Amino acid sequence: MKLWHGRFEEESDPVFEKMNRSLGIDAVLLEVDIRASRAHARALLGCGVLSQEEWKAIDQGLEQILSEYTPDQVKATPYEDIHTFVEATLASKIGPAAGKLHTGRSRNDQVATDFRLYVRKAVGLVLADIEALELALIECGARHSDVIIPAYTPLRRAQPIRWSHSCLAFVEMFGRDRERLEQSLGRIDVMPLGSGAVAGSNFPVDREAMAKELGFKRISANSLDATCDRDFVLEFLSNVAIAMAHASRLAEDWIIYSTEEFGFIELSEKVTTGSSLMPQKKNPDSLELIRAKAAMTAGLLSGFLSLMKGLPTGYNKDLQEDKEAFLKAFENVRLCLTVLRLTVRTITVKTDRTQKAAADSFMGATDLADFLVMKGVPFRTAHEIVGRAVREAVDQNKQLGEIPLTTYSPLFEGLPADYLAPENIVNRKGHSPVLP
Ligand code: ARG
Repeated sequence: MKLWHGRFEEESDPVFEKMNRSLGIDAVLLEVDIRASRAHARALLGCGVLSQEEWKAIDQGLEQILSEYTPDQVKATPYEDIHTFVEATLASKIGPAAGKLHTGRSRNDQVATDFRLYVRKAVGLVLADIEALELALIECGARHSDVIIPAYTPLRRAQPIRWSHSCLAFVEMFGRDRERLEQSLGRIDVMPLGSGAVAGSNFPVDREAMAKELGFKRISANSLDATCDRDFVLEFLSNVAIAMAHASRLAEDWIIYSTEEFGFIELSEKVTTGSSLMPQKKNPDSLELIRAKAAMTAGLLSGFLSLMKGLPTGYNKDLQEDKEAFLKAFENVRLCLTVLRLTVRTITVKTDRTQKAAADSFMGATDLADFLVMKGVPFRTAHEIVGRAVREAVDQNKQLGEIPLTTYSPLFEGLPADYLAPENIVNRKGHSPVLP
């Protein structure tokens, strides 16, 4: 029987029923729905809607449901959504008193409350995943602290940097992701319960007490906004889409670094696959899937934002799609961060290859120009002088150190022999320039 059977004469069509049913998705809200219902029941007791006995029966009945069902078992039941399941199951346990639980409440304020409780917990889990990945990256940088690789701009060799410099770049990115998620918690932590369907509740439920019981920091101020506000979902999707973009960029770097052409790193067999046809292949599937899931997660953000932007104020059924977008993004981000951490922890850096790449003297061209600058030459002039030297070296298929630099500027007299050694180029950065 439907919750609205008094108004309706006809049964809903099975095809529409299938479309309307969200239990396959929102069954995961079982625990939070029951917690919120228990807080609501206590508030109904407080304002005299429930007698002590009715409240006790409802409270115990709700607790029992939680101990008897897992979300997977709930999914297998025929109800429309998690709220309908809980109410009907409660009625089958305690009888008509269950019908009082929905007094002064709507599924609109109920689902908004449940979902905020769920997202709040999810953010905590993602935060822990990001932090673990950051630690793995720091360790990976420290493990190879003496390794130098080229840094790239437009994917062309630019200047040498330490391997740890590249690992720590991602620690910065993921650190910002954590900061954003942490800041979002304050906005998630607002309780809509008591807003009713849209205009508020006719019953003087103690909202502050409910918020306290559910661990919310604040209560919402406006029922019209509270029942249709999904900014917290948009923020979550946006924050994880950005974190996934960072994961994807690391994945992309390492797909490139692990090619035969670059050969800077070797990915472990734990996170790679072979080919069904070509016996020699070792493919970076983990990193490719991270790159792909980052794209799909960005799509979830884009989809849900498009859904939100056209909605009239107040609850609309469109909002039911929020859980699907959120849960997929949540699954994606947790899976990707975990696999990425495993990948980071198990790579091997191939120092013979990094050393060879880092020794490319053209990456010292800027340092040669700066050498002239420190002798008083304007940078633009120095750039031009070194540019001509580079041109000749390229034409003669030589390294920069192999051509007579003094023919381009006598000021190169006295250039230390190891001036272009990668370690020296790297060590020159990050502090006031050392005069030669
Ligand atoms: N299953 C619904 C959702 O997730 C619950 C709210 C239903 N409200 C309504 N007015 N039909 O959004």
